[in-house]
Amino acid sequence: MRHFISVNQLEADEMYQIIRKANELRDRPNQLNRQLFAGNLFFEPSTRTKMSFTVAERKLGVEVLDFHIEASSLAKGESLYDTAKTFEAIGANFLVIRHPSDQWISELEQEGKLNIPVINAGSGKEEHPTQCMLDLLTMYQEFGSIKGLKVVIAGDIKHSRVARSNAKALTKLGAKIIFSAAPGFEDRSLEYPYLTMDEAIEEADVLMLLRIQHERHLHKAETSDYLSLYGLTKERYKKLQDHAIIMHPAPINRGVEIDTSLVESEKSRIFIQMDNGVYVRMAIIMHVLSEWGIIHENNLIKRNSLTAI
Ligand code: CP
Repeated sequence: MRHFISVNQLEADEMYQIIRKANELRDRPNQLNRQLFAGNLFFEPSTRTKMSFTVAERKLGVEVLDFHIEASSLAKGESLYDTAKTFEAIGANFLVIRHPSDQWISELEQEGKLNIPVINAGSGKEEHPTQCMLDLLTMYQEFGSIKGLKVVIAGDIKHSRVARSNAKALTKLGAKIIFSAAPGFEDRSLEYPYLTMDEAIEEADVLMLLRIQHERHLHKAETSDYLSLYGLTKERYKKLQDHAIIMHPAPINRGVEIDTSLVESEKSRIFIQMDNGVYVRMAIIMHVLSEWGIIHENNLIKRNSLTAI
């Protein structure tokens, strides 16, 4: 077997043969060039978002270009923008990016021009729009409409992108937002009313619990009394309205923001949220690709998997 090790192996005519073949493959408007590729770039740990994007992409027939920071040229100092442009150049049709910075999207836009869409899979403490959309779907399935719902968002509001995205979207859809937070976890720059957990629990149609975001704290928060003072205990659960539901974006600090026995209780929709995450992400991918003219709007109806126009 002849391996491909050195250019010394190639005669001039063989070099031209390969060059011409590559050019021909590049320009051929056939199935080869209609396969869609996604670049999933996660600069922060993730289980739900990363895996549900992967499942969503594969269900849509999109090839996933998985990416590991430590094994990439980021380790050699390549920037986020140059990494994104590289994915664009090698044929990714869209990128899914999670990054700890609040500003990565504006920084990416300032550095140059990307010609493929980016889907935000979590930006610092500012936005988690795909989580928000799966939360909206979960409420819609339960109540049929978002308008008029009282949604209590309880926990580490100050460091939560889930709280910020949900508060904005729910307000736009006509829900009433009530925050509940332990001292130090409030964000008074967000203009929503605060109630104690005991006051809020009786108001809630939806009780959206948030994880304490230890990774965003300068000092590790003391949590020994957190559940009894601010969390969902078994006693508080009994005071929820009959129709009320419990949500949590997860991962969960069991026994901190929620009593562990309540994670899979009758009112909990936590694992339904995760299931919804796959379908919401499929819908978001289709929406974005259609907006960019990369696929036809009704692409999936005609075929079993998405293909580029
Ligand atoms: N809810 C959420 O974003 O979970 P992951 O961090 O596991 O993706």
